[in-house]
Amino acid sequence: MSFTIPRGTQDILPGESEKWQIVEQTAHDLCRRYNYKEIRTPIFEQTELFARGVGDTTDIVQKEMYEFKDRGDRSLTLRPEGTAPVVRSYVGEKMHGWVNQPVKLYYTGPMFRYERPQSGRMRQFVQFGVEALGSADPAVDAEVIALAMELYQELGLKDLKLVINSLGDKESREAHKQALIQHFEPRINEFCADCQARLTKNPLRILDCKVDRDHELMGSAPAILDYLNEDSTKYFKQVQEFLSAMKIPFVVDPTLVRGLDYYNNTAFEIMLDGEGFGAITTLAGGGRYNGLVEDIGGPETPGIGFALSIERLLMALEVQGVDLIQDSQLDVYLVTLGDKAKNKAPELLYQLRKQGFSVDADYMGKKMKAQMKTANRQQAHAVLILGDDELAEGKINVKEMATGEQKLLQLGELEAELAALLQRKDEA
Ligand code: HAM
Repeated sequence: MSFTIPRGTQDILPGESEKWQIVEQTAHDLCRRYNYKEIRTPIFEQTELFARGVGDTTDIVQKEMYEFKDRGDRSLTLRPEGTAPVVRSYVGEKMHGWVNQPVKLYYTGPMFRYERPQSGRMRQFVQFGVEALGSADPAVDAEVIALAMELYQELGLKDLKLVINSLGDKESREAHKQALIQHFEPRINEFCADCQARLTKNPLRILDCKVDRDHELMGSAPAILDYLNEDSTKYFKQVQEFLSAMKIPFVVDPTLVRGLDYYNNTAFEIMLDGEGFGAITTLAGGGRYNGLVEDIGGPETPGIGFALSIERLLMALEVQGVDLIQDSQLDVYLVTLGDKAKNKAPELLYQLRKQGFSVDADYMGKKMKAQMKTANRQQAHAVLILGDDELAEGKINVKEMATGEQKLLQLGELEAELAALLQRKDEA
């Protein structure tokens, strides 16, 4: 019997996993500079959290959740996104009482959605996201957007398009909702069953429907921007002014609604301008969610955040020919000649690794020539050659691969010589 990997998932193998580490490290560094702290929440949560948090009229909740009963008959769900869990933790841990406000958090981890797999759309994917809770200052909106843009730019991605919109505050949204109902109601029977159910509950979701997206009423639907009250208009203007001052280009798209229910005021997406992969061009999405903490049982608290998937980020880098791996990981390869030298290897490797070098050697019983070949293939910066004769004299050969230069050293001189060699390599 053979096993296949579940649809919509992938193994990340050596050669790829190094790229993931670079992305994750870049994200950690970036968050340190922006003063966001890491939070790690469970992979599964009570199902009700997502029904409440993400919204029970969304595709995610209606069609895409990995929901299961545990042995205690509790309904649990593999998290489809990270915001509701972070807010659940914010409320449970009473973070509104923390001294430093707003509470600025970030996370990286797998999310699960039962989607139709295609290029850039997986059933398990890894999101990096940030959430800032406790401030309704439009400067935080600009900060979150800037952080998202900077991650891509730092990794070398070009041709990004930042699209923003405002979904307005409660009052503006209510006015828009009524206008949408009036717009769609007379012909709602031409729409799918989901949209019919959404009409009175959440007509904004109709605009996000994948089935009815080409219906003629879609293009002429009332735009939220025409229903923003004074506060929301002012807020949106300020976010735009901050972005302009940071010289972050953006376009306002009044049709951007996002697929989750919790948004209000600022909504944004970062897309690839130009060639995407398959049908997909969206790399990241986020926005403000000022009512969410309350919906999840906490005090009235404003919040904003975004998330991106590392899969899409890496695909975009690949499309643009950006190679993240610049250097071989291996400092040193040890080649031995003779039984005594071979038996000395474990101890020598152990010492060198303790000293901080990345080191490997042959475990396949290869001849010296084949060992040299392996060292070359692994792109080691230095090769140590230890024969029984050298060992008897307490000596070892060091070959610098960049220059081909070889030196015979006392074993005691090895650490300093390797350190100098690697420093030369770094400066080159
Ligand atoms: P979202 O738009 O559902 O928002 O997802 C954010 C990003 O996750 C997308 O832009 C995309 O890069 C990635 N993504 C989503 N689904 C998939 C998939 N099936 N395969 C690969 N990548 C995917 C959220 O999840 C919100 N929690 C974002 C947020 C945080 N809003 C406020 N704070």
